[in-house]
Amino acid sequence: MRKRIVILPGDGIGKEVTTEGKRVLEKIAEIFSHQFEYDYATIGHDAIEATGNSLPDGTLTKLKNCDAILFGAVGHPKYDNDPTLKVRPEQGLLKMRKELGLYANLRPIKLFDELLSASSIKPEILKGSDILFFRELTGDVYFGEKGRKDDGKTAFDLMIYHKYEVERIGHKAFQAARTRKKKVTSVDKANVLESSRLWRETMQEVGKQYPDIQLEHQFVDSAAMKLIQNPRSFDVVVTGNLFGDILTDEASQIAGSMGMLASASVGDSVGLYEPIHGSAHDITGKGIANPLASILSVALLLDISFGMKEEAEAVIKAVEQTLKNGYRTVDIADSAIPKDKILNTSTMGNQILKELSMVNVPISQS
Ligand code: IPM
Ligand code: MN
Repeated sequence: MRKRIVILPGDGIGKEVTTEGKRVLEKIAEIFSHQFEYDYATIGHDAIEATGNSLPDGTLTKLKNCDAILFGAVGHPKYDNDPTLKVRPEQGLLKMRKELGLYANLRPIKLFDELLSASSIKPEILKGSDILFFRELTGDVYFGEKGRKDDGKTAFDLMIYHKYEVERIGHKAFQAARTRKKKVTSVDKANVLESSRLWRETMQEVGKQYPDIQLEHQFVDSAAMKLIQNPRSFDVVVTGNLFGDILTDEASQIAGSMGMLASASVGDSVGLYEPIHGSAHDITGKGIANPLASILSVALLLDISFGMKEEAEAVIKAVEQTLKNGYRTVDIADSAIPKDKILNTSTMGNQILKELSMVNVPISQS
């Protein structure tokens, strides 16, 4: 298959981890005889420095004309420490999500058995956890009207949802539940917020079309508690943009580390694949970032955008086997891991490529 992929390394460790993601794509193309073409574009802090714009027009054009996007991260401490700056790296990411209609953000939280001890949560609570989050990505306070009043002494961000926005992500969540344990947990704050009451009402309506799926509702505060109290009680979780942002960072602890979590953003056209971790400037340039979230994002890209199930499975297996062989990056290494098994970003990439080299491709595909 011939496919065009745009790589958006972005800021901080985004560059380091997408380098490993791309090597995995190249290896998959080689093994399964695909032709992948790559193009690069800028976004975030680097794009601001070069053009004054966090999502230059040239980048957007490239993104609209490719088959899939592999994204790293955006962000820079300069902006975090100065909230008065008007042009910010994150604006590029939000604009990209909106312009490409990427309204559904899938964040699978699956714990590899080998990482049971890497989490701060007890292994007996975690074992067997497998949650698929659907975070709504183009609505909510992220995109509602915002501003300042009263000489700048009052600020507001409007939490707003339209019914169609809830319906379309609701359908995606229910459809996914059909291929899993047939349970959807919708998370809102309907005891307080009007937008959440619209959310809940709409989920109930959508749910009627899926009588085979169990629908439950939880308030976000209680869901945050239950996630770490009993993660196995969740299957598919569907929630708004802000609640989803917060809950999935929390849920990363179920998977051992933020460095393990991949995500797919899909909607109207092209799909975008990225780790859920950020630019992590504290470790940028040290070569120690965990590339597995980017590599697992590649697996989602192959599966969802290209329909390459076998290729995606090969990547996941390679990650699993590498962990079984005892290799770790520092963020997922507990004290029992010997020093020589603690790898850096590129040597972890090497191990994944080594595992992939052992994949047997059926004759029909080679
Ligand atoms: C994420 C990030 C972004 C978000 C930031 C960088 C704007 O935290 O993708 O989860 O809040 O959506
Ligand atoms: Mn986040």
